[in-house]
Amino acid sequence: MAGKIAAGNWKMNGLQADLGELATIAAAPTNCQVLICPPAHLLLPAVAATGPRIAIGAQDCHTAPDGAHTGDLSAPMIADTGASHVIIGHSERRTDHKETDALIAAKLAAAQSAGLTPILCLGETLEIRKAGQEIDVVTTQFDAALPAEITDKLVIAYEPVWAIGTGVVATKDEIAAVHQHLRQLCLNRFGAAGADISLLYGGSVKASNAAQIFAIPDVDGALVGGASLKAQDFIPIVQALGAS
Ligand code: PGA
Repeated sequence: MAGKIAAGNWKMNGLQADLGELATIAAAPTNCQVLICPPAHLLLPAVAATGPRIAIGAQDCHTAPDGAHTGDLSAPMIADTGASHVIIGHSERRTDHKETDALIAAKLAAAQSAGLTPILCLGETLEIRKAGQEIDVVTTQFDAALPAEITDKLVIAYEPVWAIGTGVVATKDEIAAVHQHLRQLCLNRFGAAGADISLLYGGSVKASNAAQIFAIPDVDGALVGGASLKAQDFIPIVQALGAS
């Protein structure tokens, strides 16, 4: 059975002064895995501030382990900080940095080779949703990004682009349909091991809607942006997942 994960994506937010939020999150009682992905300059202090109680992840990695790539961070460098996870293919990177499915596949492989657990993000735009093509699009993203075999741990986050940072959450039926489809894709691709892949929902998750989202079949947790920045907003989400 897939493990429950409450993950926070801080995006380009957070200074050292905000590490106290992490310490507070780490101190809260929980019975699910908690993961925070702070910006790169906070990886090392975040690992130090939280210890083993919560996992720390990065938000992106390069495809190569090292080399002449000014400004980039490699998967072995992320692992070197003590971080265990890395977000791959977030829609903001697909848009802002024109990341293609092929690049995302290479990043995912690089993350797994370095021993990191990649969190593959996929999801459709509003235009695609209106055209009723969301299942086709997530299937293409899934097929393009994932290897034939799971070489290590893997997490998948379904994040409809129109629900990210907008306050608009996909409906129960919309989330259920895509998650059920993703579970089937995982089973088809990886056999019985596909049942163990945690499928997270992301897009305007907050304390007030978390319990309803976590009650949906095949939703194993959430990837939370805005509501993960403050411990007082994120801890109730972690607790809702633990209680689900
Ligand atoms: P949001 O972001 O919770 O602020 O909508 C989610 C995400 O982009 O991971």
